[in-house]
Amino acid sequence: MKASAPGKIILFGEHAVVYNRPALAVPVTQVSVDVEVCDSTGIWIHAPVIDLHAELSTLPPDHPIGSVILKLFQHLHIAQPPTMEINISSTIPVASGLGSGAAVSVALVRALSSFLSHPLENNQVNELVFETEKLHHGTPSGIDNTVITYAMPVYFIKGQPIETFKPGKPFTIVIGDTGIPAPTKESVGDVRRLWLRDSVYYEDIFDEIAQLALIARRSIESGKPELLGELMDQNHAFLQQLTVSSPELDRLVDAARNAGALGAKLSGGGRGGNMIALVEQASAESVAEALMSAGAVRTIITEVS
Ligand code: MEV
Repeated sequence: MKASAPGKIILFGEHAVVYNRPALAVPVTQVSVDVEVCDSTGIWIHAPVIDLHAELSTLPPDHPIGSVILKLFQHLHIAQPPTMEINISSTIPVASGLGSGAAVSVALVRALSSFLSHPLENNQVNELVFETEKLHHGTPSGIDNTVITYAMPVYFIKGQPIETFKPGKPFTIVIGDTGIPAPTKESVGDVRRLWLRDSVYYEDIFDEIAQLALIARRSIESGKPELLGELMDQNHAFLQQLTVSSPELDRLVDAARNAGALGAKLSGGGRGGNMIALVEQASAESVAEALMSAGAVRTIITEVS
């Protein structure tokens, strides 16, 4: 039984989304996680990208992969699971902000539930993966598991029914990876400490970011994606105020703008991981080259359509 899940980027609204503001995220199909489950002896898990080759019973109960499997057995009321071998392969760089953890969980739940003859609907996959995200990420909004489960552009507000949106005109994004692992749990925790100290000030910033997400959605749907550049620049400035940018992210953001991008911002938890830049299709390659010269370890060009 096989299943796969794409990566994701957040276009607008990271961090503010934890405080019930809207955010926009899109799947990145250039990278993915693939999971295959087949008959075997014991319950073996192989994930070569993280050098994991283990029997399920030898993993600690809070292991990110083991805990997803156990949660699924529990959800399906399977007390005596059959023997199987689970092979996980991924092209999504770990801790880069592309949602590698959520993608592993989504693909795993899909492949495993089908193997156990209980294939789950998207909403069930999404809920189950959100439960495991909460175990490992503190207070996640749920945006990562949602956009990866549905593999469609989403306008996301925590706790509300999912809304997808359709671009009126395709647009091109260049993703630049700092190569520094994004400490998302830590940056989300630091923003919470700032907010607890001066909630009025930070609520205002979250409102400003929410406004940008709202205008961005309208611009995308009405076929005016070129307006997103300025909105990205503004969103990045607010993320700097939330202390979640870093010299490396700022350097890539500046490099993209200097190379002709229409706008750029960090994407995801920040302090490392990825930044994104809105580009005219014709300048995508030269912006990607400028990002590599400015220290990016990898770039991905993706079209949102
Ligand atoms: C991480 O991809 C996005 C954050 O907003 C955290 C979350 O929404 O759970 C930083």
